[in-house]
Amino acid sequence: MSEFDDPTAQGIISQSRGPVRARVVGNTSISIRALGPNHRTRLLKHLLSLEAEDRFLRFGYVANDGQIRSYVERLDFVNDAVFGVFNHRLHIVAMAHLAIYKAPGGAPVGEFGVSVAPSLRGQGIGGRLYERAALHARNEGVEVLQIQALAGNAPMLAIARKRGATVHRHGAESEAYLKLPRPDLESRLQEIIETYWADLHYSLAAQSRIWLGLLQGFQVVRSRAIKAGKICSP
Ligand SMILES: CC(C)(COP(=O)(O)OP(=O)(O)OC[C@H]1O[C@@H](n2cnc3c(N)ncnc32)[C@H](O)[C@@H]1OP(=O)(O)O)[C@@H](O)C(=O)NCCC(=O)NCCS
Repeated sequence: MSEFDDPTAQGIISQSRGPVRARVVGNTSISIRALGPNHRTRLLKHLLSLEAEDRFLRFGYVANDGQIRSYVERLDFVNDAVFGVFNHRLHIVAMAHLAIYKAPGGAPVGEFGVSVAPSLRGQGIGGRLYERAALHARNEGVEVLQIQALAGNAPMLAIARKRGATVHRHGAESEAYLKLPRPDLESRLQEIIETYWADLHYSLAAQSRIWLGLLQGFQVVRSRAIKAGKICSP
């Protein structure tokens, strides 16, 4: 397991005793943060950690490191939305990109792409990222959320179908379309609350890491002082 995959408790991914509002998926609670340009480095690390097969599933071709770097550099955090799940080390272990295309005179269309660290799959994280992106897309006035996936990408298509999307197959590729309801007060409030709790959850995890670091530093100084005291004592 790489350090990026570590699903240890006490982090943003934590066991279900974690923060009250974190969404519980199976036995695991996760919180999903909306990301910004300051997360590019961590997004890049997550994407570069994907093996060739996953890069193929994610991008439709085996993206090399340079292509992934350029994709991350080009991410548009103003018109699009990027969501991430962090582990207790505050590394990104899953991300979703919601691209929003505004056609003149028509309703905007959303396109969804996602990746989850291999060791954390099958726990509902991909599905939660899809729901989070759909909520944001709905609140942005998007009427249809699309996914372009390889026809053999059973987990991705299962996620979309389970949430009501229609899937059309064209040879080796499939397109999933999820019709979104119009935004309302409840959907807007839900997004505000989810954003608030995810940010709070992240701040708590970041603070506890700082305290842990200080505590570890203090322990080192303390044990050195004890050792020195023993050497110097008569
Ligand atoms: C697709 C991906 C994001 C799924 O992430 P995940 O966290 O494992 O997804 P979830 O756990 O939420 O859901 C996976 C679903 O697929 C189902 N599934 C898994 N393997 C399956 C298979 N071979 N056949 C049918 N369904 C399958 C699971 O049962 C689960 O459905 P459930 O919620 O009804 O149980 C992840 O596999 C990934 O990162 N793949 C590489 C990149 C990629 O393919 N991106 C999608 C294209 S944009």
